[in-house]
Amino acid sequence: MEDLKDLIKKARTDHILEREEILLLLSSPEIDEILFAAADEVRKRYVGDGIHLRGLIEFSNFCRNNCCYCGLRRDNKNITRYRMDEDTIFATAEYAVQAMGLKTIVLQSGEDLYFDCEKLCGIIQLIKSLDVALTLSIGEKSFSEYRAYKEAGADRFLLRIETTDKDLYLQHDPQMSFENRIECIHNIGRSGLEVGTGILVGLPNQTLESYADDILFFKTIKADMVGIGPFIPHPNTPLRGAIGGSLQISLKIMALTRLLLPDINIPATTAMETIEKNGQIRALKAGANVIMPNITLPLYRQHYELYPGKSDTGYLPDNNLQKLIGTIHSIGRFVAEGYGFHQKLL
Ligand code: 5AD
Ligand code: SF4
Repeated sequence: MEDLKDLIKKARTDHILEREEILLLLSSPEIDEILFAAADEVRKRYVGDGIHLRGLIEFSNFCRNNCCYCGLRRDNKNITRYRMDEDTIFATAEYAVQAMGLKTIVLQSGEDLYFDCEKLCGIIQLIKSLDVALTLSIGEKSFSEYRAYKEAGADRFLLRIETTDKDLYLQHDPQMSFENRIECIHNIGRSGLEVGTGILVGLPNQTLESYADDILFFKTIKADMVGIGPFIPHPNTPLRGAIGGSLQISLKIMALTRLLLPDINIPATTAMETIEKNGQIRALKAGANVIMPNITLPLYRQHYELYPGKSDTGYLPDNNLQKLIGTIHSIGRFVAEGYGFHQKLL
């Protein structure tokens, strides 16, 4: 136990751990509370008590990919596909900025080729007229597309690596290329966009060793943001019978990420809240400093089912946002004022 405490002490000051050390911490449940407290202290020291709210708009659930874990996969015929039009996307963003006071909009979709570069750049320019930071989460694109989004005004891009275990990655969508995924993440950074990445936790055959590699990967690529969420089995996918990820191990991976990348943005993810009530609060007390309230209209949101229960969590206009703010205050934190860019302090 003393050895484990020393490791955490070292990580708190140096923000460096070897693969074997990460592995040791991940496989020692007796250290969990000390690890979470350390991540909370590092979070406070580097990014403070402000929580950044990012309004999530799920503007299309069409997807050309077939990830085994995801309810939006193309082989799922049991789903109503939708695309929001430009006016609706803009109206949602406008409400979020002007009525709700949000400082970042996140546009997310499946990999939907209908929204080509020109259409997307038009939407980006419209939303940027609202004086708001803009994040895209729309999948694998070419370098020139990432650059075009940046030039149109986009600020950040989220593309999870999902897992750094290549064999496992390919098991879940044999038609995708692991190398291209890595290349895309590099290209996002090269284009000048902030890089958000992250993983799923608890896929069948995923190992503690691979989580250690994932955490080191975040550090190697100098991620600006890292989102970690437990895998939740979806009934209309091949993984319907799988066990799914646990909140506890997801929080541990998140806390270790905070120790090693002390100044980045880390969301308390919706999947954490979906598998356990208060999952997001626990995350906010173990290293997280961001929440992404879902502002998609219920009409669409009900069909954006990456995993079951997703559309029930998240927060919609006014009442629920007030509830979220109340929760944030109840744990001694506050809603941050700025746009919440990654302030590089290391
Ligand atoms: N459970 C949890 N998260 C999921 N995602 C996709 N399917 C699931 C699921 N069944 C996550 C992926 C993707 C993000 C948008 O949603 O990590 O990157
Ligand atoms: Fe498509 Fe993303 Fe779901 Fe994969 S995880 S099927 S790319 S929406």
